[in-house]
Amino acid sequence: MELYSSIFTRKSTRNFTSTPLPDSKLKEIEAFIETVKPLIPAAKITYKLVGPEGVKGMGVPKAPHYFLIYGEEQQLRNTCAGFLFQHAELFLYSQGYATRWVGMIKPKESDADFIIGMAFGEPKEPAIRSLADFDRKPMKEISEGKDSRIEAARLAPSGLNGQPWYFIAKNGAIFVYRQKKINGLPGMMYKLTDLDVGIALCHLAVATEESGKEFEFLLSKGAPAAPDGFVYLGTVK
Ligand SMILES: Cc1cc2nc3c(=O)[nH]c(=O)nc-3n(C[C@H](O)[C@H](O)[C@H](O)COP(=O)(O)O)c2cc1C
Repeated sequence: MELYSSIFTRKSTRNFTSTPLPDSKLKEIEAFIETVKPLIPAAKITYKLVGPEGVKGMGVPKAPHYFLIYGEEQQLRNTCAGFLFQHAELFLYSQGYATRWVGMIKPKESDADFIIGMAFGEPKEPAIRSLADFDRKPMKEISEGKDSRIEAARLAPSGLNGQPWYFIAKNGAIFVYRQKKINGLPGMMYKLTDLDVGIALCHLAVATEESGKEFEFLLSKGAPAAPDGFVYLGTVK
């Protein structure tokens, strides 16, 4: 499955056709989600698959389908949600569909455990691009040390394109840090940098598996000190 190559070409869209995906395809996507190994074994993230009648919120793109993503309070809840549903995102792109994470979305039926939504469907124009068209921070701004997997994480999508992550590659491991607050006025209101890092961790997982190795995520005692404004989140082996 081409999850890995989707990392290098995917592009969020706000322009979906109104054509729903065939039921068989929706089932395939749901079956795929079941196969994703959670970031941490105890993670319990659930979702609903709804149409436009199931969502509300300002600036929500019109799409035939939405994932509404939920989880009770738990360790790294938002990070686990980002990790799981970025896999679904890449799966959709690998099948020629497109998506958009939507922080502004709300379920029609309110629920205290709601985290975030994702719009998806057929894009009106192909939702792909070349590497040069990714608007991302340069490698030296987000990392130190060398590990080719960090390029996949660098290209990950994030709310407000804030890219609130930092990676230190050392002795075969990647230490992962989360920026507490992203810059600028909109950034002051933004509360999902932990989810963004979960998305980047998904890209690291897919890149690790692409290289034929098993992805391992753990909390290390001796992680290098976090850069200013960042906190340590976990380590990838
Ligand atoms: C957690 C999260 C929340 C987002 N919320 C919104 C949103 O509310 N509205 C929107 O139009 N785009 C939203 N986006 C899409 C980002 O703006 C987009 O992913 C980012 O600008 C990078 O562009 P790309 O996905 O095409 O690489 C969100 C993305 C993420 C990851």
